[in-house]
Amino acid sequence: MTTDLSTDPLTAPAEQAAPWWRGAVIYQIYPRSFADGNGDGTGDLAGVRARLPHLKSLGVDALWFTPWYSSPLADGGYDVADYRVIDPAFGTLDEAEQLIAEAAGLGIKTIVDIVPNHVSDQHEWFQAALAAGPGSPERQRFWFRPGRGEHGELPPTDWESSFSGGTWTRVTDPDGTPGDWYLHLFAPEQPDLNWNHPDVRAEHERVLRFWFDRGVAGIRIDSATMPVKDPALPNEVTPDAHPFVDRDEIHDIYRGWRAVADSYAEPRVLVGEVWLADPHRFARYLRTDEMHTAFNFDFMMRPWDADELRTAIVSTLDAHGPVGAPPTWVLSNHDVTRAATRYGREDSSFGFVARAFGIPTDLAKAQRRARAAALLSAALPGSLYVYQGDELGLPEVEDLPLDVLQDPMHFRSGGTDPGRDGCRVPLPWTSDAGSAFGFGGTPWLPQPANWGDYSVERQDGDPRSMLTLYRTMIALRRSEPALRGEEFAWAAGDGDDVLAFRRGEDLLCLVNFGETAVDLPSHLEVLLASGELTGSQLPTDTAVWLRV
Ligand code: GLC
Repeated sequence: MTTDLSTDPLTAPAEQAAPWWRGAVIYQIYPRSFADGNGDGTGDLAGVRARLPHLKSLGVDALWFTPWYSSPLADGGYDVADYRVIDPAFGTLDEAEQLIAEAAGLGIKTIVDIVPNHVSDQHEWFQAALAAGPGSPERQRFWFRPGRGEHGELPPTDWESSFSGGTWTRVTDPDGTPGDWYLHLFAPEQPDLNWNHPDVRAEHERVLRFWFDRGVAGIRIDSATMPVKDPALPNEVTPDAHPFVDRDEIHDIYRGWRAVADSYAEPRVLVGEVWLADPHRFARYLRTDEMHTAFNFDFMMRPWDADELRTAIVSTLDAHGPVGAPPTWVLSNHDVTRAATRYGREDSSFGFVARAFGIPTDLAKAQRRARAAALLSAALPGSLYVYQGDELGLPEVEDLPLDVLQDPMHFRSGGTDPGRDGCRVPLPWTSDAGSAFGFGGTPWLPQPANWGDYSVERQDGDPRSMLTLYRTMIALRRSEPALRGEEFAWAAGDGDDVLAFRRGEDLLCLVNFGETAVDLPSHLEVLLASGELTGSQLPTDTAVWLRV
């Protein structure tokens, strides 16, 4: 009798392939600004389909699409009117299905964005709630409350919105009189859902299945700590008993979602947008029956400084270790100032409150550091997120004319916050200014005159370009077993100005944050460097991967 060793679990190779998401490179597409297929100035799914070869040659494992659903775009699509309809500006459901299939054909998975905290005020549920009037069952799906004060003229609480200002808007009742107020932690066009209502939960599970059934590999969960509220709606906001951030009951929702994700033959993946300062509270979202991974914003918000980034790396690895979830590494996204601008500032950290017009930056320095930061983040164990355009080294566009700005963060700050439009300017594909640098029609946000210098066409094949660095870096992450694994150890040389760590047996990553070049340790081979090495030295603001 012969035994088929390949199927015997006892003799199967000890090292089973890790699930794809543990070490994936995930590329974030902001559809409005990626590529415009029909020439109307707004990016769309046809544009993405035409540019799939770029994503394939970059070597990414998955695409995360910020919301592509029908939306009045009061908050760039994070105000969803209907999850089952693609916004006509972007295309059709049919095209989305084709895109998912074409990407899959190239070995690229798709992740869609789910926004549980709120919907658009144009969503049929909210329209029904307005029409049905006070006390109606339709209003139970949201947070309608009478105002305080003699005539209800004051909002139910004084909570502050993440978008500045208050969190309540008063409605006019169907009979024309001033009525109740509704809660919106973001803009008034984004009414918060009541997650204590069974319809809300059931509908979201149906939406997940709708997209999972269409071949989507996972979801990114927007504002994932905020959907559950203290039903008593206390006025006071304390970090220990916060009325709407990180309430214990939230975990039950994600356990339900995980069960939906796990019910597929190829289990789907949950990725959370979890902004929490406490790493232990953060890790609770990553327990084995909840999300698979969550964004690591601590690393993203730190300044370009060895000690600061080391602290973020240590606390990230420490928080993830006990729950067994892989960390994620993010340098920027559609909400923050691009790395290729931020790292050239005197204070290179990121914070929403610190955002202002006219902060000086040294773009050459920022570009050098953004290259080094890319190598640093790609050398860390876990999954890596690349925001569209970071692979081109795009800077933040900080001189957009005021009259083109669209971001509610800008308007609701009273105009002091420049908002998030500067990282959302349409991508340059070619050096041809006539076609909006290959983007398509007249772009919804104007591109700078020198945008062509950053274009894919200009950088393609140039050994010194950011694009070549990203392509090589991502290819090495795939081909080097040490980078595919999860082993990590600090190495000799790690110190005040230098980060030094080993991956696996033979790979060393060094990053020099200091003012002077440092000697490289003895090595067999330079796998990749973010800038030119001077002899056997690593210059300032440069990272290197060595085989030792
Ligand atoms: C998340 C999104 C952001 C959006 C907000 C409200 O933070 O990343 O773009 O404005 O949620 O949905």
